[in-house]
Amino acid sequence: MTEWLQCITCSRRFEATEIRYTCDCGGLLSVERDKLPKNTKQFDARRTSRNTVDSSGVWRFREAVLSIPDDQIVTHPEGATRLYEREGLLFKHEGENPTGSFKDRGMTVAMTQAVRVGARAVACASTGNTSASLAAYAAQAGLRAVVFVPAGKVSAGKLAQTLAYGATCLQIRGDFDAAMKLVLEASSRLGIYLVNSINPFRIEGQKTIVWELLQDLDWTPPDWIVVPAGNLGNTSAFGKALKEATEAGWIKRTPRLASIQASGANPFYRSFLESFSGRHRVTAETIASAIRIGDPVSHDRAVAAIRYTGGVVEEVTDDEIMDAKRTIDGMGIGCEPASAATLAGVRKLRASGVMRDDDRVVCVLTGHLLKDADAIMKSAAGRSIEIDATIEAVERALR
Ligand code: F0G
Repeated sequence: MTEWLQCITCSRRFEATEIRYTCDCGGLLSVERDKLPKNTKQFDARRTSRNTVDSSGVWRFREAVLSIPDDQIVTHPEGATRLYEREGLLFKHEGENPTGSFKDRGMTVAMTQAVRVGARAVACASTGNTSASLAAYAAQAGLRAVVFVPAGKVSAGKLAQTLAYGATCLQIRGDFDAAMKLVLEASSRLGIYLVNSINPFRIEGQKTIVWELLQDLDWTPPDWIVVPAGNLGNTSAFGKALKEATEAGWIKRTPRLASIQASGANPFYRSFLESFSGRHRVTAETIASAIRIGDPVSHDRAVAAIRYTGGVVEEVTDDEIMDAKRTIDGMGIGCEPASAATLAGVRKLRASGVMRDDDRVVCVLTGHLLKDADAIMKSAAGRSIEIDATIEAVERALR
């Protein structure tokens, strides 16, 4: 099967092994291939396989992800996350990936490509999850890892994870958008392979979130797939996944995408309100630090995703996010704040009549509960009570 890179703006093609992230015209790149499997039989058969590559929820779909010999794949393995049904909604928990977020799905493909093109070092800008994932996969592949994070704006858990796996962490005095600009410049000047979601191989891996959830539902599509939106890599990947699944005939009907932004970090929502006639940049602020992003790099790909699926973009406040998080945590599932934007978004879209109460909805929970312990301790501290080691003190506390 042949694969190539293609500009989403001018359609110019490049070799799949060329190291580049944008076209000469400035357009974003997409990995394209001449054909996809006509049915999902081999994908479905691999679900019960004991082979490592088959058991990955990414590489199970490898004919539609990356054409490369099995022994060159850098896989933990990842994916194969659970789908929970609670209170009439479905939750696909991507926090169950090896480093606790959906980023591992894109990282396994980007790191495989990094090794294939002979990279010695890999880099990303990050609000914490991409950096943790990059560090873990770079450790596995034996590559040097350098991450650019907004100084003081990444949760302690994510930072600790990134350092534990051995990455060098540059704390940038500025926000995520400044770190993103800097890593773009640094990677081209220093010859470091960039694995942010501007890298189209990341998108190929993240498509499998959608394919795996469709497979979990025996390829009977839901009405909606709801995802939090920051740098817009996932929104882009989900649109591409749905287009390919529809065109290949794996599904008979295309679900609609709902991308949810925090109201303090809502450039994509603003653009949606104007039917995407312009692009917005904002100075971002939200409690959901994972999506504190004001100038998303994958804007153009994400516009295509919303248009193709007849999707919508919604915004939710920090209070609505934390309220939804308490509900998801209270179901015994749990997630980090950014992920809870999904349920907050569903509530809002139901209230405005865009989503019907009997629509079948899958919310994608992007990160694990333990990714941001501070956000929990701030709101639940009242239930943590220090007492003397006596039975009387226990009785008093529980009265
Ligand atoms: N949810 C979580 C938990 C995230 O970490 C991110 C992005 C998103 C949602 C948004 O996804 O960027 O594809 O629209 N985190 C990036 C990072 C920016 O550096 O970890 P997106």
